[in-house]
Amino acid sequence: MSRIAVIPGDGIGVEVTREAVECVRAASRVLGSRLEFDVLPYGADHFLRTGETLPDAALDALRGYDAILLGALGDPRVPDNRHAADILLGLRFRLDLFVNERPVRLIADRLTPLKGRTTRDIDFVVFRENTEGLYVGMGGFFKKGTPDEVALQEDVNTRKGVERILRHAFERARARSRRRVLMSDKSNALTYGHDLWQRTFSAVAPDYPDVEASHLYVDVLAMQMVKDPSQFEVIVTCNMFGDILSDLGAQLQGGLGLAASGNIHPGRTSLFEPVHGSAPKYAGQNVANPMGAILSAAMMLREIARPGEADLLEEAVTGAVVDHRTTRDLGGDLGTREAGDEIRRRILASRPS
Ligand code: NAD
Ligand code: IPM
Ligand code: MN
Repeated sequence: MSRIAVIPGDGIGVEVTREAVECVRAASRVLGSRLEFDVLPYGADHFLRTGETLPDAALDALRGYDAILLGALGDPRVPDNRHAADILLGLRFRLDLFVNERPVRLIADRLTPLKGRTTRDIDFVVFRENTEGLYVGMGGFFKKGTPDEVALQEDVNTRKGVERILRHAFERARARSRRRVLMSDKSNALTYGHDLWQRTFSAVAPDYPDVEASHLYVDVLAMQMVKDPSQFEVIVTCNMFGDILSDLGAQLQGGLGLAASGNIHPGRTSLFEPVHGSAPKYAGQNVANPMGAILSAAMMLREIARPGEADLLEEAVTGAVVDHRTTRDLGGDLGTREAGDEIRRRILASRPS
């Protein structure tokens, strides 16, 4: 029995998560596995009603689940999105989910905006450091609101934090018979924090002689991702750059509606969510693409040792995309619910191998 905590969150997060959970249920029905879901209320509604974001007791309870599936957080009624920082970043930091794994894989040629590129050219994974960098929330204001105002936002890079994400990227490259790891930083300008990335990468890479280690500054990497994405297999980078590069990567594979992610601490309760946000302008309209959430659920199933169910979800999504049975963002005419139904129909039609 696997127990999954579900936090649908805000906006389209609620709609896409509903479809993802139903797809996981369908896959577990096909394979006869036992999965249990507990839906938790944390998000903007709950915050506005109770003043509570993510209580300590909830965090403790979450550690007892096999995994967490999250929709998205962000709501215009909470202008500073305090609840989103507390819940999403809170979970990443407090569960020490130091790996943010964001695959970029084109599943149908027509979806990439890059001219002449095919599914063979776009298949890599971004490992984003997920517990440090500019996201730690250290800093402050001085003379706030005056013409002399100063705002500081600290960029925290620790030897241990950098080393563990680099090693994870090398290990995963090996495990998936990928032979190239590219580290990206901005050490030519960030001469302390990213100098540490450089030195740590040089120290760690020789432990993986079977994997080719290379480096690009992040500005050039952004350009190369558009110019020739086929050169990349594994990219590892800091928190902020990983955030930006993974949205760029999402568009290379057809858009945010398809992009999946896992916030992972190997061996511990990890959190899976689509890369996209709550897209308030689409909320409640049955137009959001649920595939990013469904593919995130597939990543979750793989992480909790349910590869059969993960395969069913991934094959069903690929089939639906190939047959143009998609939401509007991918050129189809299905609503969120109908796209979910389509994927479930394909899952249920699969026979266990
Ligand atoms: P967003 O990802 O919510 O939406 C940007 C645009 O991408 C949308 O307008 C839409 O055109 C497209 N899009 C995104 N998801 C889609 C889907 N499933 N199907 C079809 N199209 C989709 O980014 P935003 O508008 O910058 O942010 C909205 C809110 O979400 C903000 O409060 C932001 O902080 C938050 N956010 C949360 C997360 C998260 O919870 N992990 C991630 C990103 C943004
Ligand atoms: C993401 C999001 C978050 C991030 C925001 C909502 C804080 O953009 O998951 O990519 O920057 O990590
Ligand atoms: Mn982002």
